[in-house]
Amino acid sequence: MCGIIAYTGRRQCKDLLYQGLRKLEYRGYDSAGLAVLADGRIEVVRAVGNLDSLEKELAGNGCTGASIGLGHTRWATHGRPSTKNAHPHLDCTGKISIVLNGIIENYQELRDQLASEGHKFASETDAEVVSHLVEKHYDDDLVDAVRRSIDVISGHFAFCVIHGDHPELIVGARKECPLLIGVGEGENFIASAIPAFLSETRDVMVIEDGEMVVVTPESIKIIDLDLQPVEREVTRVSWNAEAAEKGGFETFMRKEIFEQPDALADTMAGRLPESGGIVLEELAIPNEELAQIDKVYIVACGTSYHAGLVGRYVLENWSRVAVELDVASEFRYRDPVLSPTTLVVGISQSGETADTLAAMRQARSQGAKVIAITNIMGSQATRDADGILYTRAGLEIGVAATKTHVAQIAAIQLLALYLAQIKKTLGSEELEAIIAELKTIPDLMREYLKNESATHEIAKRYYQQPFFLYLGRGVGLPVCLEGALKLKEISYIPTEAYAAGEMKHGPIALLDKGSPVVVVATDGHVYDKVVSNIEEVRARDASVIAVATEGNERINSLSEDVMYIPETSEMLSPLLSVVPLQLLAYHIAQLKGCNVDQPRNLAKTVTVE
Ligand code: F6R
Repeated sequence: MCGIIAYTGRRQCKDLLYQGLRKLEYRGYDSAGLAVLADGRIEVVRAVGNLDSLEKELAGNGCTGASIGLGHTRWATHGRPSTKNAHPHLDCTGKISIVLNGIIENYQELRDQLASEGHKFASETDAEVVSHLVEKHYDDDLVDAVRRSIDVISGHFAFCVIHGDHPELIVGARKECPLLIGVGEGENFIASAIPAFLSETRDVMVIEDGEMVVVTPESIKIIDLDLQPVEREVTRVSWNAEAAEKGGFETFMRKEIFEQPDALADTMAGRLPESGGIVLEELAIPNEELAQIDKVYIVACGTSYHAGLVGRYVLENWSRVAVELDVASEFRYRDPVLSPTTLVVGISQSGETADTLAAMRQARSQGAKVIAITNIMGSQATRDADGILYTRAGLEIGVAATKTHVAQIAAIQLLALYLAQIKKTLGSEELEAIIAELKTIPDLMREYLKNESATHEIAKRYYQQPFFLYLGRGVGLPVCLEGALKLKEISYIPTEAYAAGEMKHGPIALLDKGSPVVVVATDGHVYDKVVSNIEEVRARDASVIAVATEGNERINSLSEDVMYIPETSEMLSPLLSVVPLQLLAYHIAQLKGCNVDQPRNLAKTVTVE
């Protein structure tokens, strides 16, 4: 987590760094700060809270005249959010400054050692040890000092350093956390993510794991840990700066919900050719090997895990393959039974989630084939996998995932259909019928989104309720889990999501007169069972808010409120049924006055365990 940016060039850097941080705010917003270097002096400005606080702090402060500097937006791990714990950090002399994303696992040991050598610490953070380590090893050569510091650090990190005696130089280093270079003319950027410099340049160089980078306004040198130069191509990204703006929507989350039809269409594009069948080029695992797969193991976290849960149903149903699934933080510390005929699918929109990456690596070391489903090109997940299946949802800024989620569901559906095609577990007519229907979903969703007022009205009736229960069966269950997660994370209302058939084994005790119970009751082979569960809810005088399939009039007499979605076959229905639940959560959170784009305590990219 945390976002870092560094600039060296000819322009005044204060505003460039600040604007870059604005684009990185989704990575953490507990505190933020800048360090700029002019006339051999480093000036640091920091503030607790999101970028608005830093903006106020900067307004009353000079920081002008510098054309090299660092910026940081923090998601607190070691040390509570406070000004002294905000980055950038300095060494004892005030000549060295660093910004860091990641965790220094042996920081306590390093800190004790450095303190015993006379270093004075100003914060409670793990990151500050890096500035003192660089100070300790510095002997006129900043690159060497950084290199020697890396030797004693364990953990995962990306950091950048400047020094008062090197007026144009930034040294960066990367181990497992993302770090990229924005290549300009007479100026260069280093940052955790492309949006930080996208308005200035679209030319990007990726820094790989275990590499350092030495940057001045006119030069970029990537080196390995033996200080040997590494060749790296410059890639031109197709995103434009507008993609990182709200485009007329009041929040990023709302914009991204409305971008879902495009995210779906783009994720399918080129993979479902007119000639029929499925083409998944980036998978890079030969069909003969895929034909031998007898178990799929899905690992992911949070919303991505919920997409994985949908995957279980479609993989079992279409590809007739055994499916196991675990949250990555559990999988990595278990002793899962894997073999060369196991296909492990790691799902991560960011491609940087520490637990998911660790689970994928563990699976690979046990000989399983690993596929990454991710939204970010070149992310770490793509390097820890044998094959890749990109979701093409575009940049997602809202911390609560929406469009990447539906794109993940589509991606895993494509994978299931692809395996079915190879294993011939679906007849070609059946396969083509599913494909034909899948292609219609973006338009159905587009139409649905034109009529969101019903969801808004429902939100108005219930937003002051203290608790929501979500129930579903079959493919409706992951949809409930996702709906409940969305509501709790952006509105802070406690929620519980349960398999509807399990309700009577405990959660039913929570129900009281008027308790809102959201039930996914879309058409499918368990619909009648869900109706029985609705009756159980009604018998406790609770209020049913149903998600149902258009044309189902009967559900009206069983529910206080209904959110209708267009008719689809059961296995494709989660693509649509999750949308009203996203909107319900969105409107409730807005009515409660919550910041939906930046829910408290969360971060978009979770690069810590
Ligand atoms: C919730 C949400 C998180 C992420 C989770 C995994 O809205 O976004 O639960 O899904 O942190 O992130 P990725 O997909 O980047 O691995």
